[in-house]
Amino acid sequence: MTIELKGINITWLGHATFRIRTPKGKIILVDPWVMGNPSCPESEKDIKQVDVMLCTHGHGDHIGDAVAIAKKQRPKIVGMPELCGWLRKKGVEANAEMNKGGTQQIEDIKVTMVHADHSCGIQDGDELIYGGEACGYVMEFDNGIKIYHAGDTNVFGDMAIIRELYGPSIAMLPIGDHYTMSPREAAYACNLLKPRTVIPMHFGTFPVLKGRPHDLKKLVEIEVLELEPGQTIS
Ligand code: NI
Ligand code: MN
Repeated sequence: MTIELKGINITWLGHATFRIRTPKGKIILVDPWVMGNPSCPESEKDIKQVDVMLCTHGHGDHIGDAVAIAKKQRPKIVGMPELCGWLRKKGVEANAEMNKGGTQQIEDIKVTMVHADHSCGIQDGDELIYGGEACGYVMEFDNGIKIYHAGDTNVFGDMAIIRELYGPSIAMLPIGDHYTMSPREAAYACNLLKPRTVIPMHFGTFPVLKGRPHDLKKLVEIEVLELEPGQTIS
């Protein structure tokens, strides 16, 4: 990692799930999916601390464990109003809802909800429930570091706005193809976002998610940081 993280720890739990420790020791969990996540190491499935939970959208591979973890750890939960409404129906106190373009201070980070180009139905038993729209997040830490987690998305031209308004130095981008961008679209996204480092995600979990970091490396000049599930960088 060429960027100095200045007290932030980033752990990839596989797929789109990341655990980020802030300089003040707060734990942010992005897209809580561990139990059914084939990429998540066994040793990481027992989540011991979560202070803030960020949910990008209602697909099972992103919020599969949101209810269980939230009931145990009682984090502040950030998501679309419709998604938070569904979580409240499940008995979870999801009280940090927001929408695209908004920013809120939670613990020692500023969270901005940004656009994603994706769908968002919540499969609840045999019912399919409207979950609002899919989104991404820009997290700004009080040491100045800004991280963009794109959620599930295709590339979209307004990633240029994310660069101009927020300028994240680290971008977590899906590259798996099929349900999201492939490395080709992700390389285009890198040109729009101009981060210093890109962390590929949402690949390899299932056979259909065929995109690989080495494919992206061939297409971009910036640092492509390939993590192993369970690996922490600091
Ligand atoms: Ni999805
Ligand atoms: Mn997904």
